[in-house]
Amino acid sequence: MINITINDKKLEVPEGLTVLRAAELGGITIPTLCDHPDLTPYGGCRLCLVEIEGIRTLQTACTIPASNGMVVRTETPALAESRKTILELLLSDYFNAGYTNGNHDDTEFMHWVKYYQAQPPKGFEQKARYPVNSDPNPFVWVDLNKCILCNRCVRACAEVQGRFVWGRAERGFDTQIVAGFYNTMLDARCESCGACVAYCPTGALDNKMSVGLGKADKVVTTTCTYCGVGCNLDLNIKDGKIIRVTSNPKAPVNGMALCVKGRYGYDFVHHPDRLTKPKVRKYLLEGTGVRDKAAGRGEWVEVDWDTALDITARKLRDARDTAGADSLGILTSAKCLNEENYLMNKLARQVIGTNNIDHCARL
Ligand code: SF4
Ligand code: SF4
Ligand code: FES
Repeated sequence: MINITINDKKLEVPEGLTVLRAAELGGITIPTLCDHPDLTPYGGCRLCLVEIEGIRTLQTACTIPASNGMVVRTETPALAESRKTILELLLSDYFNAGYTNGNHDDTEFMHWVKYYQAQPPKGFEQKARYPVNSDPNPFVWVDLNKCILCNRCVRACAEVQGRFVWGRAERGFDTQIVAGFYNTMLDARCESCGACVAYCPTGALDNKMSVGLGKADKVVTTTCTYCGVGCNLDLNIKDGKIIRVTSNPKAPVNGMALCVKGRYGYDFVHHPDRLTKPKVRKYLLEGTGVRDKAAGRGEWVEVDWDTALDITARKLRDARDTAGADSLGILTSAKCLNEENYLMNKLARQVIGTNNIDHCARL
């Protein structure tokens, strides 16, 4: 452990941390844009500059290691002025084309712009330099007019997802984020996981399905229904409907990472064809419940759960008794709980008497 003083607060922190992470342990917030705890420190935006006694120039808290006896100030009038200037320079090349994604005011960038009351510098005309929605990816919205070149998307794609889709091209004022060698994202091997969206602090990368849908009125943390990994995610709900899925940084299994299904495959929830009540073939409710093959399979009829389960049990028993237990097989699902899958296993092996049971998440 080492001792460090930040804003007159004496802290004992583990050796090897940056000043930024040490401050966080002491409950002190230092403004950041290019930094994210999941990603390699980058030191690009300069918003986290701090004063350190004995060091003449301002230092980036996200890259400088905390050392024993260090005395740091994170909020002085000079630092506030420096941060305001940085934000105003970023605003000079930031353009909001006017569409709403509901998150515009909530982005990290806009939070610090408001906090330091930064305004676009006089004389700079804010204008679009790039087409809005410039990539045909079906899930990721790209609007580089809002990009501040923090490189979080580049690092997230490489370090979290291992796909290396995003990179930087050109130099100076013309520097821009590009997929591959000016390819479309999909041609550059993007798998549409949306990690770059989750880490983007400005909305330059956003969820295409959510643009224009406004702001959520509540957020529900839940577990993804698609596979056995059990990722946590946040459902953003508006008027009782899911309008976007966002990462939950506290998710114990997956952190900020999600796959394309977890982040974007939620349209089934409100789909009009979704079955919400059990249905059985009509012939199963009539007479002996045996199908007249000449009459076809007949229509579906909505029934209550008890009726549907009684019919299922009856048909399973009939099949086992007439053709043997191995004439039956059970396919269960990662959309069930572990406990439910355990019970299906018991049903197959001990109640029915077959080992024919399989699961979509057994890979
Ligand atoms: S969606 Fe995922 S794979 Fe595609 S560029 Fe973004 S981080 Fe990379
Ligand atoms: S697209 Fe977003 S994450 Fe990527 S560099 Fe620009 S602002 Fe940063
Ligand atoms: S957060 Fe430290 S330089 Fe960007």
